Amino acid sequence: MDFELNEELTLVRDMARDFAENELAARATKHDRQSFIDKEVFAKMTELGLWGLTIPEKYGGAGMGNLALSVVLEELNRVCASTGVTLSVHNSLLGAPINKFASEAIKKEWLPRLATGEVIGAYCLTEPNAGSDAASLRTSARVDGDDFVIDGTKIWVTNGGTCGVMLVYARTDNDASKAKGISAILVPKNTKGVKVGAPEKKCGIRGSSTTEVLFDNVRVPKSNLVGELNGGFKVAMDTLDGGRIGIASQSVGIARACLEAATKYSKEREQFGTPISNFQAIQWKLADMSTRIEASRLLVMKAAWLRDKQERCTQESAQAKMFASQTANFCADEALQIHGGAGYTDHFIVERLFRDARITEIYEGATDVQRIVIARGVLA
Ligand code: CAA
Repeated sequence: MDFELNEELTLVRDMARDFAENELAARATKHDRQSFIDKEVFAKMTELGLWGLTIPEKYGGAGMGNLALSVVLEELNRVCASTGVTLSVHNSLLGAPINKFASEAIKKEWLPRLATGEVIGAYCLTEPNAGSDAASLRTSARVDGDDFVIDGTKIWVTNGGTCGVMLVYARTDNDASKAKGISAILVPKNTKGVKVGAPEKKCGIRGSSTTEVLFDNVRVPKSNLVGELNGGFKVAMDTLDGGRIGIASQSVGIARACLEAATKYSKEREQFGTPISNFQAIQWKLADMSTRIEASRLLVMKAAWLRDKQERCTQESAQAKMFASQTANFCADEALQIHGGAGYTDHFIVERLFRDARITEIYEGATDVQRIVIARGVLA
């Protein structure tokens, strides 16, 4: 057993860290305030090969795995969680299922474009009445000749505004029981009848795009099916096993930023004639934050390692996601408390970190859903 990153992972971590510190650090607050990510950032991500990190080399990607993606996402999210989630969704919720479940023709058509970031990907599962209970989705895809015709509404679509292609989960068999009548279908955003809603005004990760997407008589060829007909729910769940590792990595990055900000502030801020870092009350907070971050990272690495070995990691990714996202919120709360009133203003980044951390316990399966998944694993 070896807890050190190997040479390849160390190189990719250093590359991601340099990118985050040189390109994102000065922009993170701007991204939050303007509610979009600068296009220069996307271009730099193309230059560095980040969009294609987990796409196989034969389709133009870097051919790396979930461990590499986790390492990169921790570094990016430590500095800008909006950029972090954009990349996480692109790689783990769109690139990964295409690579794993799609036909060779789809792979050849889309993976090279996804690898360069020419096209950004999105994942359309959630609907107004199907959130945690994803299998209740109502968007329909009826077969008409050689096409699927899709009708319905998806919400909270990350990358909705910026994407060029989306994986849409739709009901293809109304008679089958909930989860058994769903298929995964690839839909280019420029298809007639696809309408992207206005950007959501969010509490945090404001630089990332989140929108509603409406499908009105949207016609795509049946060959755009990803995975088996009526086998889409398993594609969705398997994909989320990977996506949740991404959000757990995001959580570790945000938590680390909180610890770093709180440590720095506590050494600078003096009260009662001494830096507040000299008080045990502050030291205990820093100790708890640091320990939870370390434990979260180990859970993330274990889940990513299993997934890279092509082993089922449903329970492990849910554990990593639950614990790491709780850690991010714990650390954000403690960091803000250490900053006192100053942390409640936008003069310090902990105010943004506090807002960014909150979503990690909600998207890609709320903490409550992770508990369902973990408990099912324990009881099985
Ligand atoms: N891998 C492969 N197959 C899986 C699986 C997995 N991880 N999990 C479940 N399945 C299979 C089951 O084996 C079952 O198949 P069989 O009937 O053949 O045995 C089938 O899928 C149905 O599974 P369940 O009975 O467990 O389904 P359920 O309806 O009870 O749902 C749930 C379980 C865990 C609550 C699930 O609905 C869930 O994860 N909900 C949360 C959804 C979610 O995370 N949404 C986030 C959307 S993305 C987002 O946040 C926005 C963004 O863009 C970032």
